[in-house]
Amino acid sequence: MRMAVRKAKALKGRIEVPGDKSISHRALLLGAIAEGSTRVRNFLPAADCLATLACVRGLGIEVETLSDTELIVHGQGLHGLREPTDVLNCAGSGTTMRLLAGILAGQPFYSVLTGNKQLRQRPMGRIAEPLRLMGATVLGRDKGRLPPLAILGGHLHGIEYRLPVASAQVKSAILLAGLYADGPTVVHEPAPARDHTERMLAAMGANIQYPTPNIQIQGSKLSPLDIIVPGDFSSAAYFIAAACLMSESEVIIEGVGVNPTRTGFLDALKEMGADIVLQNQREVSGEPVADLVVRTGELKGVEVRGDQVPKMIDEFPILAVVATQAEGETVVRDAAELRVKETDRIANIAAELRKLGACIEELPDGFVVEGPTPLVGTQVHSHGDHRLAMALTIAGLVAEGETTVEEMECIADSFPGFKEILLAQTTFVSTHP
Ligand code: S3P
Repeated sequence: MRMAVRKAKALKGRIEVPGDKSISHRALLLGAIAEGSTRVRNFLPAADCLATLACVRGLGIEVETLSDTELIVHGQGLHGLREPTDVLNCAGSGTTMRLLAGILAGQPFYSVLTGNKQLRQRPMGRIAEPLRLMGATVLGRDKGRLPPLAILGGHLHGIEYRLPVASAQVKSAILLAGLYADGPTVVHEPAPARDHTERMLAAMGANIQYPTPNIQIQGSKLSPLDIIVPGDFSSAAYFIAAACLMSESEVIIEGVGVNPTRTGFLDALKEMGADIVLQNQREVSGEPVADLVVRTGELKGVEVRGDQVPKMIDEFPILAVVATQAEGETVVRDAAELRVKETDRIANIAAELRKLGACIEELPDGFVVEGPTPLVGTQVHSHGDHRLAMALTIAGLVAEGETTVEEMECIADSFPGFKEILLAQTTFVSTHP
């Protein structure tokens, strides 16, 4: 499916974005191994999270769907999962495969995790290695590094493990396996990555301490929770960017999760000179939430590197779009992880933005954008990557004339309803004087 976007002048009104993807996955996975029923409200019914739902059901867990966004997970405790009778299909979701592998490492049965073509090319050695050190058997293609993964778990022992890359998925896989291990498990992170797993485990009563950078967990039972999932900051990011860029914008995005391990993009935009105010700050189900008020701003270039990178790991495609309209140079370093996301996001965003006239150069671990450059609409491609599809759509609102984004259906991986919200809140530049 392709979508044509025209130049626009404003984003206005009140917006609510769907529930957070990371927290929706965790609510299902932790709910499944808690002792009793976990109610989840504002669940994200996107393809990635629906893959987790199907896997959890494949492990014998009953999940009642009260509506698209409200579920009850009937958890059976740490040892209540059943050996699946078929392979577990994680579709395109790295979070599903990596977090679930952590739980399956603790099960005394055989399971196989697979996914779509994109996911079957993503590195799994990063979870297989620590899970093997804990005592699980984890097999995969390419000497155990690529999916499908076959896991035979049970009898785990705690380890002390230094993560080679800052990754919430890897950290979470080890912590979840740690629930099943004899003795403590300690994870050292090179830089703080999102801490939703730690927060939810603590709220469920796990014996976990998470002073960054050394997180420690011991075998513990989990109690069920009532979870309200906050709006996904990574989905809000596209509207934040659109409002910053379009000259007559003022938008309020309500109920957005503003966990500081996720909001690096806000920090970068503020440094660039953006006009963003957090209102009505509150805590919902152990996560900080706020309403974001965003107005048009004059932006200048920014440098993002080091510890800032994991805090905005999914926002680099949209940062690149914003940087094309900012005065001066924007430099991103220490972000080589972008090359092993759903697609190589450094190569792909650089190639697609160049088609629109942007001045962007790839670096091995990031990119440099020189701005501002006028963008001119043309045909661009998402490469089947939801974050590229949405970032390029926002670029299309800024570009002269018409931009066609190819392969838009992947947006359903994380943000069903993106196009509808965008069309409802955007004022386009009239082509009929
Ligand atoms: C996620 C962690 C990040 C992020 C992904 C979701 C999670 O991946 O890119 O979209 O839910 O834990 P890494 O942990 O591999 O950086």
